[in-house]
Amino acid sequence: MKALTLKAIHQPLELEERMPLNAAPGEVVVQLKSASLNRRDYFITQGLYPGIKPPVVLGSDGSGVVTQIGDAVDASWIGKEVIINPGLDWGSNQTSQSNDFNILGLPRDGTFATEVTVPATQLHEKPRQMTWHEAAALPLAGVTAYRALFSQGGLRGGETVLITGIGGGVATFALQFAVAAGAKAWVTSSSPEKISRAIALGAEGGFNYREEGWSKELAKQVGSPNLIIDSAGGSGYGALINLAAPGGRIVNYGATVGPPEKLDLFKVFWKQLRLQGSTMGSPKDFADMLAFVEQNGVKPIIDATFPLAEGNRAIEAMKASPQFGKYVLQLS
Ligand SMILES: NC(=O)c1ccc[n+]([C@@H]2O[C@H](COP(=O)([O-])OP(=O)(O)OC[C@H]3O[C@@H](n4cnc5c(N)ncnc54)[C@H](OP(=O)(O)O)[C@@H]3O)[C@@H](O)[C@H]2O)c1
Repeated sequence: MKALTLKAIHQPLELEERMPLNAAPGEVVVQLKSASLNRRDYFITQGLYPGIKPPVVLGSDGSGVVTQIGDAVDASWIGKEVIINPGLDWGSNQTSQSNDFNILGLPRDGTFATEVTVPATQLHEKPRQMTWHEAAALPLAGVTAYRALFSQGGLRGGETVLITGIGGGVATFALQFAVAAGAKAWVTSSSPEKISRAIALGAEGGFNYREEGWSKELAKQVGSPNLIIDSAGGSGYGALINLAAPGGRIVNYGATVGPPEKLDLFKVFWKQLRLQGSTMGSPKDFADMLAFVEQNGVKPIIDATFPLAEGNRAIEAMKASPQFGKYVLQLS
């Protein structure tokens, strides 16, 4: 089998020929058709992630066919078209993950390969309405968006939601899910073109977060969002606290820009805001997300597809975030 392996940080991933995989008890081998990239993969190549231990095959998302099962795995999985829940060992608590929680593609070998082994409990049938590429684009970003919007953000139809940095993989799913749930979704982006694409997906409109005074303009035109979904943090976070409606919620699933420069706690308590963190999702969030996606016919947005051998080009392309939606690797 072929695998794109991280041998050292700040170095290109290496395409290796490896021995075919075998399924341990309770696990399966999935012959992968497609994988997708997340910012996590880029951060790992740059050394910007905890616990990096090369060599490791990166990649959290994949779609493919089960070709082998280990002892104690239901034989009906053989030959099934599947996607993989990349969140391992979440535990039994819905409110937060256990200390054992880990993500496919570090420390465990991931999906930038023609084969992967995973516990059978991570498998779900591939959504029928999706191509292999679309199915591979969904898992990590989809469950993160779902938990942030619904399980943590409590979004209800008719509410106004602001989703920042709409070009991001998670953000595009958040927009699609919010629109499907009947919310009024507004977006921010550094790119007018991405704002236009978001409007085509059902956003009410958008604002360029690089432009001076964007949040005042938003407040004037839109009013105060009930829910804000953010993964940037940094100096822009203060504007989100100003923007949120009294009694509103701000959910962060990332902090790409870094911590906020300051946190105006006076506004937080006076406005009765809820500042909520969110990370990927529980097995229940994953199953609920799949049901939601199937029920609403959501199709993931794929920006570009690369052959496995050109995976480094995809990683490199993530540096400047030109994409709208997901980058996908074609594996077979
Ligand atoms: N906690 C979790 O479980 C979890 C899961 C997934 C991702 N994350 C984190 O969430 C972040 C996004 O991940 P992703 O995979 O969706 O990334 P991605 O697809 O690479 O998207 C990154 C996007 O961030 C936006 N951005 C950059 N600077 C910004 C700023 N100052 N204000 C607002 N938006 C800004 C850009 O949007 P525009 O191009 O529109 O300007 C960019 O396209 C990363 O930090 C990632 O580590 C966390």
